[in-house]
Amino acid sequence: MKIAIVGTGYVGLVSGTCFAEWGNRVVCVDKDVGKIAQLRQGKMPIYEPGLEKLVVRNQAAGRLSFTTSLAEAMRGVDIVFIAVGTPPRPGHGDADLSFIYTAAKEIAYSLEGNAVVAVKSTVPVGTGDAVKKIIATVRPNGSFSVASNPEFLREGSAIDDFLFPDRVVIGVEDENARKAMLALYRPLAEANTPVVVGQRRSAELIKYASNAFLATKITFINELADLCEHVGTDVGELALGMGLDHRIGKAFLNAGPGYGGSCFPKDTLALLRTAQDHGVALRIVEETVAANEARKRKMALKVLDAVGGDVDGLTISVLGLTFKPDTDDMRDAPSVPLIETLQRFGAKIRAHDPVGMENAARVVENVALFNDPYECARDADAVVIVTEWESIRQLDLHRLKQVMRSANLIDLRNAFGRGVAQAAGFQVSSIGQPVPHQSSITSGDVLAFPYRKFRQRDPEPAAMMR
Ligand code: UDX
Repeated sequence: MKIAIVGTGYVGLVSGTCFAEWGNRVVCVDKDVGKIAQLRQGKMPIYEPGLEKLVVRNQAAGRLSFTTSLAEAMRGVDIVFIAVGTPPRPGHGDADLSFIYTAAKEIAYSLEGNAVVAVKSTVPVGTGDAVKKIIATVRPNGSFSVASNPEFLREGSAIDDFLFPDRVVIGVEDENARKAMLALYRPLAEANTPVVVGQRRSAELIKYASNAFLATKITFINELADLCEHVGTDVGELALGMGLDHRIGKAFLNAGPGYGGSCFPKDTLALLRTAQDHGVALRIVEETVAANEARKRKMALKVLDAVGGDVDGLTISVLGLTFKPDTDDMRDAPSVPLIETLQRFGAKIRAHDPVGMENAARVVENVALFNDPYECARDADAVVIVTEWESIRQLDLHRLKQVMRSANLIDLRNAFGRGVAQAAGFQVSSIGQPVPHQSSITSGDVLAFPYRKFRQRDPEPAAMMR
């Protein structure tokens, strides 16, 4: 089939490349001249393991090309995908759909035959209807279809997620779109991947609901991890015991410092906004968003507790900055509020990330960045593990301890076995494991107060918080 992809961001570039891998002729379009020039030379604008190899291979085979001309990409096209960004509107929380609407209008001018316009970007329910209206205004007599085909790929494992998904979701309103979309996804259907074909609005909502559910699942285990610390149990055992019930499932039960990234924070807020617009209360999602925000800030307390309640003048080494491993993405990364809070309390921050330091330098200030994790830990009073990169998991703890001033390890991802780290001589503070000396701080919002000074004034801050 002949496919055009409008927008060569994460979703557009990965989807276009994988469609080409199945033998389709794919043209990816972007307004960013520099990005297109880079891609033509086989240089990736994003960090994604395995992507460069696939792009180069399919470009060399003549199946994949890049252009800034939408009209050129649209020639003889069977399906054109809209894969532009839908960032949150500042101060609103809902998705900014202006890029979608502009793309729809521009597509309308070069639309031929019975082409299908499929929206791959994550968009609120009803966006497909709006796209259809925009195109119909430009081409009142045109025969075209609008479909929804949300993408569920994760950064860091995007290629595998695309080529071996749990399911494909397609939303259509007519037979033309149904046939075209099923033909495109035949390779997956033949490999027994379930293909869910429903109404366009259902497909749009499935994407938001799935992300909100996963965000809720993470938040649930994170809160249970807090309870584990107080009742002397291990959240790892809890997650295993729960997850083996297939109705619950093992995935997304890794407790940590709170979810981040380009999707969960944005999509949960956008879903809440849609619900609000329709007068519906999604209380669980509301609580998830609030609990996750509070959790990220609360992680600084773990560090304070681990070093005796005061970080003023101390050197804290943060290992792992991106919102998760195998990406250079810093969007809503838990490392950012952690660093900012520790700095407010007077800590000097040194930090290391295997891939994300360039992006990190744009969002955090006054942080000394180190390519070498051991150099990063030099003379530190504590090391905090925020992102569980494999290279960080593999660190030699004995060597790490040797270069530090005090052997405090705050492991927010349980990347190291507690026993192993203790055997290496560390005082360990982890997530959801029994706390040796119980913290007196219990409120998630305690950071609204100047914690250190507060503590000096009152020996029992938790009591005052209530
Ligand atoms: C997510 C969805 O998984 C994907 O389907 C959608 O298309 C885009 O959003 P992504 O944001 O790339 O993908 O990362 P994901 O692996 O889902 O992790 C999101 C956040 O949750 C990260 O901060 C991660 O560290 C956190 N997380 C994930 C946990 O804290 N615990 C877990 O068990 C899983």
